[in-house]
Amino acid sequence: MAGDSTVNFNLLHRTCKLVVLLCLLHISVTVVFYVRSLDIRFAFAQNQQSHNNGTQPNQVRNTAFTLQTEPAETEKEAPAEEPAKKLEKCPETSPLLVGPLRVEFNVPVSLEQIKKDNPNLQPGGRFRPKDCEALQKVAIIIPFRNRDEHLKYWLYYLHPILQRQQLDYGVYVINQDGDEIFNRAKLLNVGYMEALKEYDYECFVFSDVDLIPMDDRNTYKCFSQPRHLSVSMDKFGFRLPYNQYFGGVSSMSKEQYLKINGFPNNYWGWGGEDDDIYNRLASKGMSISRPSGETGKCRMIRHERDKQNDPNPQRFDRIAHTRETMYKDGIKSLSYRVVKTDKFDLFTKITVDVGKP
Ligand code: BGC
Repeated sequence: MAGDSTVNFNLLHRTCKLVVLLCLLHISVTVVFYVRSLDIRFAFAQNQQSHNNGTQPNQVRNTAFTLQTEPAETEKEAPAEEPAKKLEKCPETSPLLVGPLRVEFNVPVSLEQIKKDNPNLQPGGRFRPKDCEALQKVAIIIPFRNRDEHLKYWLYYLHPILQRQQLDYGVYVINQDGDEIFNRAKLLNVGYMEALKEYDYECFVFSDVDLIPMDDRNTYKCFSQPRHLSVSMDKFGFRLPYNQYFGGVSSMSKEQYLKINGFPNNYWGWGGEDDDIYNRLASKGMSISRPSGETGKCRMIRHERDKQNDPNPQRFDRIAHTRETMYKDGIKSLSYRVVKTDKFDLFTKITVDVGKP
């Protein structure tokens, strides 16, 4: 009997030891896993933070800044570190582009509506992307007189397009004062000068007020060669009227523009000034860059010929002599008087006296 109870006791003792050992093993395995899971969570949090730093630098860095500086009053007063504002460059091709667009002019548009549709614009029709640093600072120059209805359509279609193109841009409407004969190229020169007084623009887009692109992949920026953007206009059956055509919408970097002494100031009335600009570029060995016929499609708003803008009979003679006249007549010899500057919500309007022929 005593032997039996000793055997039972030993068995019980061993079983208990085994159970205790198993419990210890279980606890240590649990502890090891718990500690490892803490490590993983910490690494994940760190990774998240550095990822966010790349895409939303302001937000995340500002948070970190607040946390670090909270306890120290003196540190709080130190000037905020500027790097917080440094954004990454926008991509070469904007991810916001949608491609072909429907453009029509039968539904009236109002400035109020356009303002509501474009809440991120700054006064004077300025914009810059908030999530990345634009690749170019672009001034858009529109020669103008008495075309308010056309301007509304231009603003209605172009503001959303230019924002999707992720440009740092401003819209300058250069309004010819008085009733003298219209001078498109001189107004463009004025736009160049006036825009540069306001901001360090590096690219200039010169656009007629009645031309609307039908594809947002036709980016309103500058290229290594002067760019012709309105390459396939409905008015010309969606093709170039001739190879040297440089009218409608074009863009030039500051350097390209200065190389040709800007544009001629003495083309009064319709026609020829764009051919003169083409001649200037060609004489300086530059070529014309263009989007494809498909991407470069655009619509023109139909209208009667403007008063005081009849075809210029002297244009053929002038075009024939561009190479001789371009150094005397251009941005270097430009003279004008600013009558008024209006900073509207959707554009900056500069009214100028450009003189008369
Ligand atoms: C004129 C240009 C005009 C083109 C297309 C040419 O004859 O000289 O100024 O842009 O026609 O209309």
